[in-house]
Amino acid sequence: MTTRILTGITTSGTPHLGNYAGAIRPAIVASRQSGADSFYFLADYHALIKCDDPLRIQRSRLEIAATWLACGLDSQRVTFYRQSDIPEIPELAWLLTCVAGKGLLNRAHAYKAAVDRNVAAGEDSDAGVTMGLYSYPVLMAADILLFNAHQVPVGRDQIQHVEMARDIGQRFNHLFGHGREFFVQPQALIEEGVATLPGLDGRKMSKSYDNTIPLFGSAQQLKSAIAQIVTDSRLPGESKDVQGSHLFTLYQSFATPAQSAELRDQLLQGLAWGEAKQRLFELLNDELGEAREQYHALINKPDELEDILQAGALKARKIATPFLGELREAVGLRSFRADQQVAASGKKKVAKSARFVSFRETDGSFRFRLLGADGEELLLSERFADGKAAGQISKQLQSSAAPDIRVQGNGFTLWLAAEEVAQSPLFADAQARDAAIARLRAALAA
Ligand code: TRP
Repeated sequence: MTTRILTGITTSGTPHLGNYAGAIRPAIVASRQSGADSFYFLADYHALIKCDDPLRIQRSRLEIAATWLACGLDSQRVTFYRQSDIPEIPELAWLLTCVAGKGLLNRAHAYKAAVDRNVAAGEDSDAGVTMGLYSYPVLMAADILLFNAHQVPVGRDQIQHVEMARDIGQRFNHLFGHGREFFVQPQALIEEGVATLPGLDGRKMSKSYDNTIPLFGSAQQLKSAIAQIVTDSRLPGESKDVQGSHLFTLYQSFATPAQSAELRDQLLQGLAWGEAKQRLFELLNDELGEAREQYHALINKPDELEDILQAGALKARKIATPFLGELREAVGLRSFRADQQVAASGKKKVAKSARFVSFRETDGSFRFRLLGADGEELLLSERFADGKAAGQISKQLQSSAAPDIRVQGNGFTLWLAAEEVAQSPLFADAQARDAAIARLRAALAA
């Protein structure tokens, strides 16, 4: 069984060392595992929510695409694309918007935080809140559900969004699936072992703290960033404890255990912080040097990046286009031309037959429907205490040569051994009812 792993990278800003250790490196390692079917994409529609500077948007997409490829993402093996190259994503986002509860979205952390800030500042609670920010989780649900991802590696702040995707997908399944699960339930994947790097000042490395080490700056830029790492004031020759030294934590995140042990010993014996910084520089320069060259080569060949991403979009749309066709059908956006209805879903036209679909009511009872070849409901069963009883009745119906159908107004009921087991919906008139009875007989005989 392959596991589909999908994650989006919001294209705002330039990747730094913290992004590399916390997200890029582990994701690339995971993508190489056998059995992994990985989807990585640039969430550039999401980036628009927080940024209205077109040049920054464009620059960031380019830098992030080049970063992932330079760090070793194999675009042949994985599906690597830009969100904005997949028109099925915003289209699905709308279908999902129509089933997502407003109350659900009111509870989204990012939206609530904006409201709290407004209230604290004495402003209107929705001041400055765009529909983009508000609907952010729906767009993210579309990203995930369109490809039926099983696992979604994200940071802790995103767990709620994955849960919302589960909720919204389930609701769609329930409303339109008639027993079919269009969407699988995605799981948020939080990698426990992954390094959260400290920044220059010891707080978590983050763009918002302005304490980052650039990933692909020049060697000189790397050196001067490292020089700014805050250490305690112990002098060269004084023994240094690595406990609480974020310089050491940074070193450890990239070194082998043996290298870390060696540096720890030397610091204990009085190695100067300046020397330790030089060691960190060498370590990082070694680890990143090759990728840095790759990165600059790619940045200078944007046409090539465009080709790679277009090929990725093609690959993604091979899945997305037919699937969205099925979803459109499901909600009732269908061609008026009968012979195109199935063709639109991208499937070969096959003669569909009637089918039984069983489901569970909220009170725990079991029921089934008999759907005609075109999906219309012919019968809805009574409630049964367990699935087995429901299954037996539907089996008996399929093998009864002369079903006991009794007309009742513009509908009908179906009986087995003197018990009513199912009933039809009400039809517009007697003629429609009788046509449905004929289809029911044909379906049960088939
Ligand atoms: N919201 C995510 C973040 O800020 C990025 C993202 C967008 C995403 N769509 C996604 C992550 C789908 C996982 C799956 O990190």
